[in-house]
Amino acid sequence: MIYETVVVTKLNNRLNKAPIGTYIKDKKVRMKIFEGSHTYENLLNQDYFSVNVVEPIKIAEAVLTDDDEYLFYRDIPFVKGYYSIFYKVVSRKIINREDKLGKSKILLIEGEEIDRIYFNREIKPYCRADGLIVEMAILYSRRHLKDIEKDILELYKIIKKVGSKEHKNLAEKFVKEMLKG
Ligand SMILES: Cc1cc2nc3c(=O)[nH]c(=O)nc-3n(C[C@H](O)[C@H](O)[C@H](O)COP(=O)(O)O)c2cc1C
Repeated sequence: MIYETVVVTKLNNRLNKAPIGTYIKDKKVRMKIFEGSHTYENLLNQDYFSVNVVEPIKIAEAVLTDDDEYLFYRDIPFVKGYYSIFYKVVSRKIINREDKLGKSKILLIEGEEIDRIYFNREIKPYCRADGLIVEMAILYSRRHLKDIEKDILELYKIIKKVGSKEHKNLAEKFVKEMLKG
C-alpha cells in the first residue's frame, strides 16, 4: 500500500516539504521522486529526511507552501505535532523514463528508519472534502503535464458543498493559482 505523506528535507539550511507517496514496510521506506522538484534535488545531496503522517488538508497544502512549524530530531527537520518517522538514505538509483510526454528521470530512494515520534492528538472525523482536496493537489502538481482546469473546477464545486472553511480556502487558492497559469 502507498501512503500519502509529507516528506521534509533540508539543503543548505533551507527547509522543504512536499507531498510524496511512500511505501513503508517494517524499518524501510521506498519512494519515487520525479525530476524537477526540490525534494529530488535535496535527496540527491542529503542523507537524512523525515516522513510525516499528517491530515489530508496538510498533505494538499504542502504542494503550495513550505511554511510550517518545524522541529528537529538531531538535525532532521519534521512537522510539529503529528507522527514523524526519521530515515537515513541507504540506496539511491536514477532511472530514465520515456512516455508520450517525453523523457524524465526518477530518483528511487530507499531509507532505513532511525527513530519515530508521535504526538497524541485529537482525531478528526472523515470529511469528503479531505479526499477531494488531496485529489485536487495531485491534479495541480501535474498541471504541466495535462489540462486540469475542468477537473479542478469540478472538485471545487463539491468541496464548496461539503468542506470546512479551511478546505474551501485552500481549494480556492488552487483554483486561483491554476487560473494564473
Ligand atoms: C498526494 C500527492 C502525492 C504525491 N506523490 C509524489 C511522489 O510520490 N513523487 C513525486 O515526485 N511527486 C509527488 N507529488 C508531487 C509533488 O509533491 C510536487 O511536485 C511538489 O510540488 C514538489 O515540491 P518540492 O519542489 O517542494 O519538492 C505528489 C503530490 C501529491 C499532492
